[in-house]
Amino acid sequence: MAAAPDSSKRCVIWFGKPGAREKVMLAADGWQVRAVLPQQPADIGMRGGDMVVGLIDFRSSSDNELERISQLTAEHRHMPLFALTPAQGEDDVRMSHPLLAACRQQFPHPPDIKELLRQLQALGDAPLALAHDDVLDTLLGDSEVMLVMRATLRKFAPVDLPVLITGETGTGKEVAAHALHRLSSRHGKPFQAVNCGAIPSTLVQSELFGHERGAFTGATTRRHGLFETAHNGTVFLDEIGDLPLDAQTSLLRVLQEGTIERVGSNQPIHVDVRILAATHVDLERAVDKGSFRRDLYYRLNVLRLSMPPLRSRDGDIELLSRHFLADFRARHRIRARGYSSEARHAMERFQWPGNVRELLNRVQRAAITAEGELITCQDLELSQDGNGAGLGQLTHARTHAERETLLSCLQQSRYNVSACARMMKVSRVTIYRMCRKHQLTLEGLR
Ligand SMILES: Nc1ncnc2c1ncn2[C@@H]1O[C@H](COP(=O)(O)OP(=O)(O)O)[C@@H](O)[C@H]1O
Ligand SMILES: [Mg+2]
Repeated sequence: MAAAPDSSKRCVIWFGKPGAREKVMLAADGWQVRAVLPQQPADIGMRGGDMVVGLIDFRSSSDNELERISQLTAEHRHMPLFALTPAQGEDDVRMSHPLLAACRQQFPHPPDIKELLRQLQALGDAPLALAHDDVLDTLLGDSEVMLVMRATLRKFAPVDLPVLITGETGTGKEVAAHALHRLSSRHGKPFQAVNCGAIPSTLVQSELFGHERGAFTGATTRRHGLFETAHNGTVFLDEIGDLPLDAQTSLLRVLQEGTIERVGSNQPIHVDVRILAATHVDLERAVDKGSFRRDLYYRLNVLRLSMPPLRSRDGDIELLSRHFLADFRARHRIRARGYSSEARHAMERFQWPGNVRELLNRVQRAAITAEGELITCQDLELSQDGNGAGLGQLTHARTHAERETLLSCLQQSRYNVSACARMMKVSRVTIYRMCRKHQLTLEGLR
């Protein structure tokens, strides 16, 4: 991580004595550290425009000192307060000091220094701080929608609640889930991902919650399920909409009571996991249809992270296509070192129903097949006007995705054809043509 450009200062007032390592970690992230010793308090001295946060070191402060710090911080009511506490579970009178309760009210989890850094960063100028973040470097993109998404991700990461990640296929839902885990206090603990749609429905329960020996034919040994394996860590349930109803009931129990039961046992087992779920289908519709439990939906949908489709990320197609090609070049001997201008335009115009995954695949395939130094439309299997070509088996999926995109853009633009055309970067004529093709009548929709 690099220091944020210093237009306004970011300062941590450390009540107590920061260690050398702690100082360096904060400094590396662009924070100035000012130590204030409660026995000889200096003026906190806040200047307008500076970002100042107070950090109370409960590890090195006596009860008396905490009293003094309370008075000092009471004079600066608008200063956000963080607490740095001794290792959890310690029997310590200081832990019952009202000042700690005050800190916790703002930021409920007692942080270690790394966690603290992340929380401080979430408070600071998020886009600046994010530009150099190695975890979030896996979610490239400079478009406005991606900056907003990353700032949201950063806010959600330290909060120990479920996150529902929505977005079309290939938009980076799994990458986002992993980043949420790595930026959370569970980062050193297991991250277990499973695609709910990929397990045969008869095996889902045992896969997720484990089974006892003899629970069913073929269960010759006891087996731990995904939730037990992920204890203290994070479970990522991909395509949650495909989870069978009986497994939905078991999942609800994890969320409500923090327990699971192995198949073939009715002994509840405590598990501590954070649940992240992803869906590319509209879960609300599944709830209305009765294929997804409403109560489970409400539990999962506390924090919602939506991954924007690639076509709505202004400027990112160029950035990502360059990045993927450079990355491929670094690992393979290929001639291609750039794109022809037609190829660049075609990529801009294409709708990318498979989003970033599709872009990555097309770039890699083109990089291998390209004969010249510049990748052409043909190499990318795109026509110059940005239509896919030569992909017979994908046509159906494309058509479906195109219809969904069209519908969603029409809704967002309140069925205004010009606004919708701008959003989809096509002409108004194309919108009318697509409406006819997909048998959508604007009057009917409005
Ligand atoms: N913003 C991004 N920057 C770089 N690579 C990305 C980005 N978003 C997605 N990818 C890559 O695209 C592919 C698909 O991402 P994934 O998270 O599996 O999508 P989803 O789960 O939404 O289908 C992966 O190879 C991932 O690394
Ligand atoms: Mg996925």
